[in-house]
Amino acid sequence: SKVGPLAGRRALVTAGPTHEPLDPVRYLANRSSGQQGFALAAALADLGADVTLVSGPVSLPPPAGVTYLACETAREMHALAMGSGHFDVAVCTAAVADWRPEHEAGQKIKKTGAPDAAPPIKLVPNPDILAELAAPGPGRPKLVVGFAAETENVIAHATAKRQRKQCDWIVANDVSPQTGIMGGQENQVVLITADSVEAWPRMSKADVANQLAERITVWLSE
Ligand code: C5P
Repeated sequence: SKVGPLAGRRALVTAGPTHEPLDPVRYLANRSSGQQGFALAAALADLGADVTLVSGPVSLPPPAGVTYLACETAREMHALAMGSGHFDVAVCTAAVADWRPEHEAGQKIKKTGAPDAAPPIKLVPNPDILAELAAPGPGRPKLVVGFAAETENVIAHATAKRQRKQCDWIVANDVSPQTGIMGGQENQVVLITADSVEAWPRMSKADVANQLAERITVWLSE
């Protein structure tokens, strides 16, 4: 068994994008690479935690020493996150699709009718994994951390999100294209708790992961 300050603690990390099928060959997705979540899973495992990493489709190798559960859709990610037992800490880094096409066509959707006609796509909401994990109740992890990828008013939106989703901390970042953060190697985050707003300097995603894992360790041992 593992050694380190998080030995005996169970940690859940969600990561990556989700893919929401339209038909057997097409899907809706986003630009998440999974790097921040994979780095965090590795950092928590290095500190001795028993880590379950639930990830959507990414092109990264799972970190050594973590339980890796792969999925495609938000509904699959939700089932894996909720069905893997009790966790002391849950960190939701996944860029879960907020909506999915209402219907997945059984066959590839064909062009029909007028040359400029296009099929309408009706979207329906996906389950909110973070909000469900953070909801008060006997099985709630002691610490639930969300991420907030925003393109404007980062702190205001993230602060509102923390309250709405009832998570303990939100790690907010600006994912506007000019930042190069989504899909890049670096991150610049603001850690928002119930009573503090801390802007961290820009650093590698590995360093963000290590510092966040360190903070989680301190919080769990208090
Ligand atoms: O609402 P929004 O998608 O901006 O919230 C982002 C945070 O919520 C992230 O921590 C993300 O992992 C989590 N989330 C989730 N399930 C969803 C949507 C978001 O766990 N369906």
